[in-house]
Amino acid sequence: MQHPTNELWQALEQQASEYASGFDLRQAFATQPDRFAALSLSAPHLRADLSKNLWDRSVLSGLLALAQSRGLDASRHALLAGEVVNPTENRPALHAWLRMYHAQATDHEWGQGLHDMLALAEALRADPEVDDLVHIGIGGSGLGPEMALQALQPFKTCRQRIHVVSNLDGHDLHQTLQGLQPARTRFVVASKSWSTTETLRNARSAWDWCVAGGLDAPGRHFIAVTSRPERAAAMGYAQLLHLPEGVGGRFSLWSAVGLPLAVAIGAGGFGQLLRGAAEMDEHFAQAPLHANLPVWLGLLDVWNSTFLNLGSRCVVPYHHGLRRLPAYLQQLEMESNGKRVDTQGQPLPWPTTTALWGEVGSNSQHAFFQWLHQGSQRVPTELLLVRRPAHDLDGHHDALLANGLAQAQALMLGAQAGADQLAGHQDFPGNRPSTVLLLEALSPASLGALLALYEHRVFVAGVVWGINSFDQWGVELGKTLARDLEPRLASGDTAGLDGSTAGLVGWVGWVREAVVSFSE
Ligand code: F6P
Repeated sequence: MQHPTNELWQALEQQASEYASGFDLRQAFATQPDRFAALSLSAPHLRADLSKNLWDRSVLSGLLALAQSRGLDASRHALLAGEVVNPTENRPALHAWLRMYHAQATDHEWGQGLHDMLALAEALRADPEVDDLVHIGIGGSGLGPEMALQALQPFKTCRQRIHVVSNLDGHDLHQTLQGLQPARTRFVVASKSWSTTETLRNARSAWDWCVAGGLDAPGRHFIAVTSRPERAAAMGYAQLLHLPEGVGGRFSLWSAVGLPLAVAIGAGGFGQLLRGAAEMDEHFAQAPLHANLPVWLGLLDVWNSTFLNLGSRCVVPYHHGLRRLPAYLQQLEMESNGKRVDTQGQPLPWPTTTALWGEVGSNSQHAFFQWLHQGSQRVPTELLLVRRPAHDLDGHHDALLANGLAQAQALMLGAQAGADQLAGHQDFPGNRPSTVLLLEALSPASLGALLALYEHRVFVAGVVWGINSFDQWGVELGKTLARDLEPRLASGDTAGLDGSTAGLVGWVGWVREAVVSFSE
């Protein structure tokens, strides 16, 4: 990495080369009795222990100075003041506005959709003619509701069953519709752009299913959540909820996109989600940078990926309800900061965000933890624990918490095996970085706070890197090429294609013929 002009970068690079080779967490704890207190922090609804990372207060100070030199204070203010922070689309990023001001949002264009959504959610909950609600949406229009519905399952108070369909693969919708009755089903179709292939195709198939099931006017069974209501209205949708242009897809759970969650937990429960997130917004806005958890976490991400060159980050939620959180965070982080140019489109001279991946604990201990503990790479691992469970099964939860804590302990401490022939195999190198986030309980408010924490962390890292975290041009090329390829699959036309894609189109054609002749 090179950045010849900034002394702060160079000082951190110098420190990084020492920390990459000479730093040992075990020694650090032995020589710094206050290390845990010095590198852990509380924020609304949670605490975070960052002391088992390959850094120190001196590194954190250097990173804070760097963040200030990169304009973090002004950028934080601009985000929270609703200024344009997404220059390529000339938009603000209004997700924090939705929750900070939701109580008085009714007279604002950006708050009306949320207000209407909460009223509609209550109406649906009370509707005796509705048994099933099918939410259709993908990416930011699907992952948030899907993840949050699972996380807040114990808070579900409605009678209706709620389903989420995202995938273009027809198996998703087909399986969901099994056993449902068109007359007693409502569809929420969420698409900010109202142009997403997956969502529009699933919505059309759902419409056809309603017609085939005897509904004369399916439109009154369909609710659109979109920034382009005129497009949905033209297709006959009876109910339209507005999604402001300034709310990005991956930040849209807080908007009308949250309708299925609001049906599940009620407008009151959804209000708690918003309030929990607003508490984190307040912390992000008010806490000085040196005591600000989203800032610490964003800077840790910069330190690990840009300065220490650690190639990915693993997130392991120790809560069954959070099993889709890694997928949600993948979009949040990798779509926001998976970029290699600055806000002006100029190449950045440093590596930016790494891959994020993960799976629920304790399941993942029996899958990839072998690699985390003894593989040849060091991967910062984030363990998310919840102190109080929502069940009373004897012994489960303490064992779960102990397992989570033990992984962080083992990653740091490692272990040396005896001198027998298995010594090499049983040796644990240790000195591997981890972070523990501890929630008091998983509730609408604490989930809101947790998600807002991650959103602001991504923003902080993006500011330090110089990235526009709110656009996503990198998804466009694949969509364009798919539109070109689809008719070629039917026609077999491979003219102008590269050799590999032409060969693959031929294979797909061959498989199709084989399927036809098999079924004949
Ligand atoms: O393809 C990526 C993306 O544009 C995401 O940013 C977005 O969340 C998702 O597709 C769905 O988009 P839409 O809400 O417009 O259907």
